[in-house]
Amino acid sequence: MRFDIITVLPELLESPFAHSIVKRAKEKNLVEIHIHNLRDYSKGKNRQVDDYPFAGKGGMVLMIEPVDKAISHLKKERVYDEIIYTSPDGELFNQNIANSLSLKGNLIILCGHYKGVDHRIREHLVTREISIGNYVLTGGELAAAIMVDGIVRLIPGAIGDESSALSDSFQDNLLAPPVYTRPAIYNGWEVPPVLLSGNEKEIDQWKHQQSIERTQLLRPELLK
Ligand code: ADE
Repeated sequence: MRFDIITVLPELLESPFAHSIVKRAKEKNLVEIHIHNLRDYSKGKNRQVDDYPFAGKGGMVLMIEPVDKAISHLKKERVYDEIIYTSPDGELFNQNIANSLSLKGNLIILCGHYKGVDHRIREHLVTREISIGNYVLTGGELAAAIMVDGIVRLIPGAIGDESSALSDSFQDNLLAPPVYTRPAIYNGWEVPPVLLSGNEKEIDQWKHQQSIERTQLLRPELLK
């Protein structure tokens, strides 16, 4: 799988992909993540990529030409399954979207910035708009990092124990059961005895019951 991320702040995206599961997935060649500086596609002398909005006040807009050039350059090299624009206007990112995007081959993510991008890019080039929540961030870079992280961990082989991504919260619209590790008793606080019983069937039943109870308690809307 391959991500091409177009951004005005490439430095912001260095660390999120340099650790843990995403780092290992890159090392195992399960994923390539390429960061492209939008300013490299500017023809202005100051590498300008934003301009004042027509008939608007305050806030700059990402210009159509550098964005079009960056996307065209990438599209000449390969076919993309989606060209995603990160925006608070988009569909809300969730586990279903992460699952379906993890099955794709090549994705472009265009990070919004300032007041957004010239709308013609959204009308003519972007195939999908995704938001990570009902709040406004300074730019789409952190949203892109969250999406890539959520997607990459689902690629088969990215997580050591393959079943572990499937038992995540939300995979079946249920929250994950609580987890514990050694010591079995700390400060008099005990791990539920069933987890020490070695009885696989009872353990599975307990975990499922806990998932249902926690979902009912904490996120009842997921059960509807
Ligand atoms: N850019 C600014 N806010 C955003 C959000 N909530 N989701 C995705 N991209 C954004």
